[in-house]
Amino acid sequence: MQNAVITGWGKCVPPATLSNHDLATFIETSDEWIYSRTGIKQRHVSHVNTSELASVAAKKALAAAGIEGSDVDMIILATASPDTLIPNIAATVQANIGATCAAFDINAACSGFLYGLGLANAQIQSGQCKRVLVIGAERLTFYLDWSRRDTAVLFGDGAGAMVVEATDKAEGILGYELNNDPDAREILKTGFGTAMDRFDAASLDFYLQFDGQEIFKRAINGMKNLSAKVLEKCEMEKDDVSLVIPHQANERIIDTLVAKMRIPKEKAFVNIENYGNTSAATIPIAYCDALEKGLIQPGQNILSCAFGAGLTSAALLMKWGNRVTPINESDAELPPTDKTGIELVKRAADYFCSK
Ligand code: ACO
Repeated sequence: MQNAVITGWGKCVPPATLSNHDLATFIETSDEWIYSRTGIKQRHVSHVNTSELASVAAKKALAAAGIEGSDVDMIILATASPDTLIPNIAATVQANIGATCAAFDINAACSGFLYGLGLANAQIQSGQCKRVLVIGAERLTFYLDWSRRDTAVLFGDGAGAMVVEATDKAEGILGYELNNDPDAREILKTGFGTAMDRFDAASLDFYLQFDGQEIFKRAINGMKNLSAKVLEKCEMEKDDVSLVIPHQANERIIDTLVAKMRIPKEKAFVNIENYGNTSAATIPIAYCDALEKGLIQPGQNILSCAFGAGLTSAALLMKWGNRVTPINESDAELPPTDKTGIELVKRAADYFCSK
């Protein structure tokens, strides 16, 4: 049976940013509150659709792996904010990268990327695929009620992608656990598409809503339990883990998680300051940033875990391969914009704040 190893990685973050100070110009909040409670300083706001973010991240990941779109056997795109429900946006990415293969979206919210890596691993181990492109991409700013300070300050847009390839070497994905807690599905949701009648106001007046404190507690327990299960399954101890690259929802969640797992805080990678929570995209973006900073070394054991609406949770342990630099660089870019973050959200912010 072959193993599945990461050979390419890429991210796409839209250029416009919305700082905590920008948010404080139209909702009652402050940089001090947001940063001290969440670790976030700014988030990116996209001027393009989710599939465009995903396509640029995918092109960068393919170049890093030194392969073409036509070399890919399957595209798995994790998103809770696709620009089209029909067709899936993996199909749009497929067209943009020139691939001829299976392509589909999955929605496991913030756990989506790890769900995708788990599926890719299974496809490779079964011999069905040699190369799978896994993408996490979101434009969550579309779902926000900009007058609600509890949610508006947390989320941002972006995409990350990885090429997962078959290998005979003892490296790559070592084990993973996926779970869902349906009892808690009501504590994190949006009304989008829930009304039976498409003209019902609830279908049009949707926004992301959640019970922050309840999610906070469940997230820590869910990620801790699944991480422990994965380590046990792989017959590893927490000290065998060199780096933890967790979902970036709140820096305090990450701090509490590693403290409870008795893993030193220095081993946890945190980049939420620059992006906020980009849901399914946080983990692949974080891997790209960790690689850029030289924090990932060949052969290291890396633990990732996530939680999201559903409430889904996931944990995955991988042994990084022998390459930490890209084979090629892609010059793929988003179309330019001269709009600022505030300008991009202004229409929605005016609508929600005047209600
Ligand atoms: N600015 C200023 N004050 C605020 C803000 C804000 N942005 N938001 C809330 N407050 C106020 C509240 O109104 C409250 O005031 P009160 O005491 O007068 O009532 C006070 O701050 C404390 O509010 P709490 O909700 O207790 O704040 P808490 O420390 O729990 O932090 C937070 C809230 C950041 C939402 C936290 O609970 C959290 O991160 N939860 C996890 C949420 C999450 O990550 N969800 C991910 C789901 S993503 C997905 O799957 C799509």
